Amino acid sequence: MIITIDGPAGSGKSTAARKLAARLEIAYLDTGAMYRAVAYAGLQRGVDFQDDEALLRLAKSIKLELDCGPTHTRVRVDGRDVSEAIRTMAVNEVTPYIARHTAIRELLVKRQRDIGRALGSFVSEGRDQGTVVFPGADVRFVLEASLDKRAWRRAQEMLADGEDVDITEVVDNLRARDEVDAKQWEPLLALGEAVIIDTTDLAIAEVVDRMVEAVRAVRSKKADPG
Ligand code: DC
Repeated sequence: MIITIDGPAGSGKSTAARKLAARLEIAYLDTGAMYRAVAYAGLQRGVDFQDDEALLRLAKSIKLELDCGPTHTRVRVDGRDVSEAIRTMAVNEVTPYIARHTAIRELLVKRQRDIGRALGSFVSEGRDQGTVVFPGADVRFVLEASLDKRAWRRAQEMLADGEDVDITEVVDNLRARDEVDAKQWEPLLALGEAVIIDTTDLAIAEVVDRMVEAVRAVRSKKADPG
């Protein structure tokens, strides 16, 4: 079974994806971690993030390995586990240079499909999973939430990490990211083929319950198409 989850930052995708994979006892593929891992390697090697050719050379030269379990995706770069190191502010800031690099996207999309083929059944989370990477997935979710709620969630995370929070800055940052990111899953919405869940007023357990319900409905339809 292939399940994709796309949606904006702060919609609760990552937590929902992990919990759904654990409930279904299948693997969790965090594709954002791949873009982050390349960005992290660029920082380590002092690559100029404005230099597209240098970035592509970097992406081709590193050994990127993923270990997808039902509750985690562990990432290794050149044999070193960087699963935690890719979550810093410094990495957040340079990852968009990787995400908007067309040739690197092609490389990573190919890797995602290879990983998916090897896993068989999995929950894949990102921005383009139901549109570009696994358009034939069994269930394709798009999670949404109001801008205010997403900003509030992001602010809570930052406070928990001991960071200063300027809520106007958080809102502006999310709005800028939406402009770029939303283009990736919008085609799914236009086709009316996604299961859309608005998480604004839902607890994470409710989001996962709805997802499990949608997956069960598809499973029973497949078992009894008549
Ligand atoms: O979901 P995340 O915050 O870990 O994603 C990190 C970055 O990678 C973010 O800039 C969005 C981008 N990304 C992407 O372009 N395509 C994906 N499939 C996953 C993430």
